[in-house]
Formats: sequence, structure tokens, C-alpha cells
Amino acid sequence: MTILITGAAGFIGANFVLEWLAQSQESVVNLDKLTYAGNLETLASVQGDDRHIFVQGDIGDSALVDRLLAEHQPRAVINFAAESHVDRSIHSPDDFIQTNIVGTFRLLEAVRAYWGNLPAEDKAAFRLLHVSTDEVYGSLGLGDAAFTEQHRYEPNSPYSASKAASDHLVRAYHHTYGLPVLTTNCSNNYGPYHFPEKLIPLMIVNALAGKPLPVYGDGMQIRDWLYVKDHCSAIRRVLEAGQLGEVYNIGGWNEKPNIEIVNTVCALLDELRPKADGSSYSTQISYVKDRPGHDRRYAIDASKIERELGWKPAETFETGIRKTVQWYLANPEWVANVQSGAYRDWVQTQYAGTAEA
Ligand code: NAD
Ligand code: DAU
Repeated sequence: MTILITGAAGFIGANFVLEWLAQSQESVVNLDKLTYAGNLETLASVQGDDRHIFVQGDIGDSALVDRLLAEHQPRAVINFAAESHVDRSIHSPDDFIQTNIVGTFRLLEAVRAYWGNLPAEDKAAFRLLHVSTDEVYGSLGLGDAAFTEQHRYEPNSPYSASKAASDHLVRAYHHTYGLPVLTTNCSNNYGPYHFPEKLIPLMIVNALAGKPLPVYGDGMQIRDWLYVKDHCSAIRRVLEAGQLGEVYNIGGWNEKPNIEIVNTVCALLDELRPKADGSSYSTQISYVKDRPGHDRRYAIDASKIERELGWKPAETFETGIRKTVQWYLANPEWVANVQSGAYRDWVQTQYAGTAEA
């Protein structure tokens, strides 16, 4: 038995593959384009493992996807592949449209053709799981109820609009062609192997490098944080027991304002790697101009997956963030290696004119 996983050299996909291979005999075909966000070093521990077949390529390359499906006959496809960084989507949306919308469409077409030709038993068992985000629901006010699966789609950034479009395509392929799909919409992840362009790893890496910690606007935007391995366990559970055509919100009921996240990271670093001069890393906090169209608050109502599939996160924010900071302290080589030329160019673009660059 095999599953095809796309985008599994990135943060969540790679964590998913590592967990999968640690607990299953089933092999994975990992199709990843290796953009700046894809990093095979994350998968070094499974290099040489026959159960991990890595293929560099684009989900939008129909001939390649057709060939991989025909050759490996997967019983499921999990689509993690995406352009994922909101700030990059604001600077240059093109890649987001190509991968998140056109790429997902091409993948759906290839999977539909493959699934349509499967023998009846395999056809009934087949699943396509599409990994999406809470950002498709837009922004909440402080007193609003958390996003349920019924919340209307109101994406506000090119990133979230492109993910919303992909979700709609997945839904339409189920409704129109009967393709056996599952969609998950998860809140903000954090944990090992997180690319240091995102808030939590950026703060850890900048703090240790003695650089400013750039907090957008007033720092009071709220995100709902989930440890990455809990996201992975939720995806496994949905793949195993989710109802066809259904959407499952995934989150850990962990809403926090950004400034609280940054202060927590600083306090953990103060404890685990105190500065020589005795000052706190929080003295490096620097308020910078806000993200255009910045969503104020996300919050996931995870009742459905808890109630219907019996899933619960294993980590609290306190245990997860401590593990995360410890992981970055223990893995400086991984960080140094992902901070390539392309990464440095991005830092110059995003934080131009500020000390962070
Ligand atoms: P990431 O940016 O770390 O990784 C994305 C991976 O996809 C990279 O390895 C990249 O090389 C690959 N990729 C990009 N374009 C591709 C293409 N055209 N074909 C094949 N591979 C391609 O992203 P992530 O944070 O791991 O997110 C994975 C998925 O989860 C995304 O779909 C994202 O929208 C979703 N998601 C992320 C979060 C989060 O907090 N990071 C939360 C909810 C949902
Ligand atoms: O909600 C799920 C989404 O979470 C995923 O779909 C996205 O792929 C993922 O990137 C993430 O999006 P965010 O925009 O919420 O994550 P990011 O880490 O970029 O930012 C988190 C918050 O921190 C956000 O309010 C912006 C703020 N921020 C971010 C950076 C990079 C700062 O204040 N300073 C920064 O330098």
C-alpha cells in the first residue's frame, strides 16, 4: 500500500511523513517542487528508507502526476503542496495563483482520471485529502464566535483567496464527479522544521542572532496555535475515518495575541539560553509597519472533529512552545542551512529600511 503526498519537503508535510513512517509500514511517494520552502534536509533521517520515494516536481505537471499515479497506484493522495506565506503573497501573488489554484486543479484532474479507472473495491476505498487553512474564513472581531465549518468564506489576502479557490475546486469535484475528497482547515501551526519567515521561528532565530524582533502594527492580532504533530495526527484521523465530501476544522483552542507569543518565546530563551549581559531577549522587540490588510483574529471551533472523530491535540501551547524552542536551540545547522541566498533576499525585501534586514 502506498500514499502520494504532495509538498512533503515543507514544514507540515515533512513532519507528517516523519510521523507516518515512524508508525506505519505503508510507503509514501513525496512529490515536491522544492521551492525555497522545501528542504530535503528535514527528511534526512528517512533518506535511504525504501518506504520514502522522493520525486522533485510540480503538482501542476499533469504528465508527471499521471505517471506517478499509474506507477505507484496509491490508495490515497494528501495535498499539502502550496505557496504558504501571506507576506510573500502580498509582494508577488503569481506563484500563489499558479500552485494553489492551477496546481490544485491539475492535481484534481489527474486524480479524477486515475480514480475513475480503479477497480470497484479500490475505487471505493480511495481518498483525496486536501489540506487547507482557517484563513479562508477571513477575520473575526474580538467578540465573534470561532470559525465553524459553516462559516462563510471571506478570504482577505492573495494567499487565503488562492486557498479558498482550491477548497472550492475540491468541493466541486466531489459534488460534480463524486471524487472521494476530504478537506481540512487548520489554524496556525508551529513546531520543528518551521521555515524562519513565519512568526515563531523568525522570533527565535532573530533573538539568538541579536537582531530586532519585528512585531507588525500593535502586536494585538490574534492567532490560534496548534503544535504541528497535532495537526498531523488530525490529518491521519480524517484520512482514516472522515466522511466523504466533509470539511473538518482543526485547532487546539489556543488563541493568543502576537505580542504574547513573542514575549513567551523571549521568556523561554531567557531561561534556556540566557544572554551574557543578563538582559532579556524582549528588549529586542521592535514594532514595525503593519501587514497590508492584516486579519485581526482567527479562532477555530474544533468541536466537529473532536465529536465525530474523537480527535484531541496532545500538546498544550505551553508544552508545545517549550519543545519548539528547545528544538531550535538543538538544531542550529538546520537553521543555518535553510537561511540560503534566497532567504536572505526575502528578508531584504520584507523588512527593507528596518534594522531586521
Ligand atoms: P510550506 O511553505 O512550509 O511547504 C510547502 C511545500 O510545498 C514546500 O516543500 C514546497 O516546495 C512545496 N511546493 C510548493 N509549490 C509546489 C508545487 N507547485 N508542486 C509541488 N510542491 C510544491 O507550507 P506548510 O506550512 O508546510 O503548509 C502546508 C499546507 O498546509 C499548505 O497547503 C498550507 O496552506 C496549509 N496550512 C498551513 C498552516 C501553517 O500554519 N503553516 C496552517 C493551516 C494550513
Ligand atoms: O492560520 C493559518 C495560517 O497561518 C496558514 O494558512 C499560513 O500558511 C501560515 O503562514 C500562517 O499564516 P499567518 O499569516 O497567520 O502566519 P505568520 O507566521 O506569517 O504570522 C503570524 C502573525 O504574526 C500574523 O498576525 C503576522 C504576525 N507577524 C508575522 C511576521 C512574519 C509579525 O508580527 N511579524 C513578523 O515578522
